[in-house]
Amino acid sequence: MDKTRIHIFDTTLRDGEQVPGCKLNKTQKLLLAEQLELLGVDIIEAGFPISSPGDFEAVKAIAERAGDVTICALSRAVERDIERAAEAVAGARRPRIHTGIGTSDSHIKYKFQSTREKVKERAVAAVKFAKQFVEDVEFYAEDAGRTDNAFLAEICSAVIKAGATVLNIPDTTGYCLPNEYGSKIKYLTEHVEGIDKAILSTHCHNDLGLATANSIEGVINGARQIECTINGLGERAGNTSLEECVMILKQHPYLGFDTGINTKMLNPISRLVSQEMGMPVQPNKAIVGANAFAHSSGIHQDGVIKKRETYEIIDPVDVGIDKSSIVLTARSGRAALAYRLKEIGHNITKMELDEVYKRFLDLADRQKEVVESDLHQLMEQSESLG
Ligand code: KIV
Ligand code: ZN
Repeated sequence: MDKTRIHIFDTTLRDGEQVPGCKLNKTQKLLLAEQLELLGVDIIEAGFPISSPGDFEAVKAIAERAGDVTICALSRAVERDIERAAEAVAGARRPRIHTGIGTSDSHIKYKFQSTREKVKERAVAAVKFAKQFVEDVEFYAEDAGRTDNAFLAEICSAVIKAGATVLNIPDTTGYCLPNEYGSKIKYLTEHVEGIDKAILSTHCHNDLGLATANSIEGVINGARQIECTINGLGERAGNTSLEECVMILKQHPYLGFDTGINTKMLNPISRLVSQEMGMPVQPNKAIVGANAFAHSSGIHQDGVIKKRETYEIIDPVDVGIDKSSIVLTARSGRAALAYRLKEIGHNITKMELDEVYKRFLDLADRQKEVVESDLHQLMEQSESLG
């Protein structure tokens, strides 16, 4: 079956970099952009050029050095913002301007003290203005997750007419349930005039832990671009995690979607982003957390040692990890202990294992983890006990 290509729009350098403490300098942004291109993302949102001279310079440098990847810059629906974004991405082979405005009644009333009609006019004017600089203009309807579907379809139809090539439907506040977000995308595929001329994009925040589920539901219902970040970084509780979306689509091939991502780079790039941003990855994070391929309970360890697939749905090698790890704790069994001892060169008999296992448990009950140096000591003791 021919798979439908889903575009991966990486916003680690923009939404991800907005996280307090995650700010990057130009050199760091260039390094990460280079790696993101090697990873195979289709679009890099490199920054928000109007926000600071430093960010303008970083986006400009990324645009000038990029290969075939699309380089995108964010702007509000404000002419000065759009001009600055245009200037920053001008050197890219494939430049894109991302412009937009809040479309929910809450944003219209409290942020803009405006009306739906006036917001629609501003959206259309912004897209038309951006079109003077680049062919590829993405429009974001901020807080689309809480925007009335009929008005959302109306504004999307108007911006397509003005030349928008991509329609970003952000669940800015992370409020939607997966079926709600999926239905919203489906509604747009059915009610937006000229939708065949544009791509629908997901951009989901994780305030209720639903960002990935919502993005996938969006794709199932007609979105063809996912906006996401490495390690799920982004405002507040974060954005959609790139590695999760990519692996969900890969591990569920019957869904019929494909991304161009080199999955073997997922763990190395996760570590690089974490290091450059100074933001640790939670150990239980899917795909890239330190424990994502670590097994510590005796029941699981016994299964994995017999056949990896018993407790793993992803081959760690596919995501850039050499192999799964067997962590020794007081919950580990004999099979795990024997396995780890064998790894360090001790092939012991069943009787020897029974003896060393008793002393292992005694130690494991006193500390959180039994590490390799402890194993050497346990074996030295065994030898001296004769
Ligand atoms: O979450 C959001 O709505 C955004 C837009 C600026 C695209 O990040
Ligand atoms: Zn966002």
